[in-house]
Amino acid sequence: MSVNKIIKRITTNTILSMKAQGEKISMLTAYDFSMAQALDEAGIDVLLVGDSAANVFAGYETTLPITLDNMIYHTSAVARGAKRALVLADLPFGYYQGTTEDAFKAAVRMMKESGAHALKLEGGVEIIENIKKIIDAGIPVCGHLGLTPQSINKFGTFGVRAQGEEEAEKLKSDALALQEAGCFAIVMEKIPAQLAKEVTDSLIIPTIGIGAGNGCDGQVLVVNDMLGFTKDFKPKFLRRYMDMYQGVTNAATAFAADVKSGNYPNESEQY
Ligand code: KIV
Repeated sequence: MSVNKIIKRITTNTILSMKAQGEKISMLTAYDFSMAQALDEAGIDVLLVGDSAANVFAGYETTLPITLDNMIYHTSAVARGAKRALVLADLPFGYYQGTTEDAFKAAVRMMKESGAHALKLEGGVEIIENIKKIIDAGIPVCGHLGLTPQSINKFGTFGVRAQGEEEAEKLKSDALALQEAGCFAIVMEKIPAQLAKEVTDSLIIPTIGIGAGNGCDGQVLVVNDMLGFTKDFKPKFLRRYMDMYQGVTNAATAFAADVKSGNYPNESEQY
């Protein structure tokens, strides 16, 4: 008799209650089915199909070139692999900063075609009407403040944001506006730890930090970075849990040598 284990899906309500109960939230990016399966089995709470796919999957310098169709493709692969985790997908650059109608249409397409459970949008008060419209349609939204990579051409650098008082104040009021609009969480990227803690303590909804210190309600990393697959990317906040680049190189070198020497396949590896 086979016993099917019932897996309870993490929802946006689970994420909210985790903050209320003081349980930290784990989030990693994922872009494909196999990685999603492994991260899901490991118990990661949220799989973020980040537009960082533009960087680590496609090799672009910024996240700007990735399209809605690209994001739908990646997200549907991740959604098929995730049985427990909440699947959160980025809306890519250019699809939600214009009219509310355009933002709404992009959000609906993403939800209909990708299997995502929620969407992440970068920005604060500038896009608040668009966020409200999406949430009003029943689509959960996660905000993203601080270093928002889709605005890299405005910032000019990938450096730490909100170090000055003016930008810190704007970030605080953006966070409150996102909460007021109905967002279920906010990602805060590359801001001073003290500011991140202050914002976290001021909100009912959880904050998920990346380079924002230990005072956030959860942490997110780009999976290729934490696995050591992006070999030259070493920001201060990054902890590497393995050296995947070296592991893959070693395995591929061994495979090539086995093929050249005739050692692969052996008798037990053929029909
Ligand atoms: O696209 C992404 O991977 C992200 C994380 C850096 C939070 O937005």
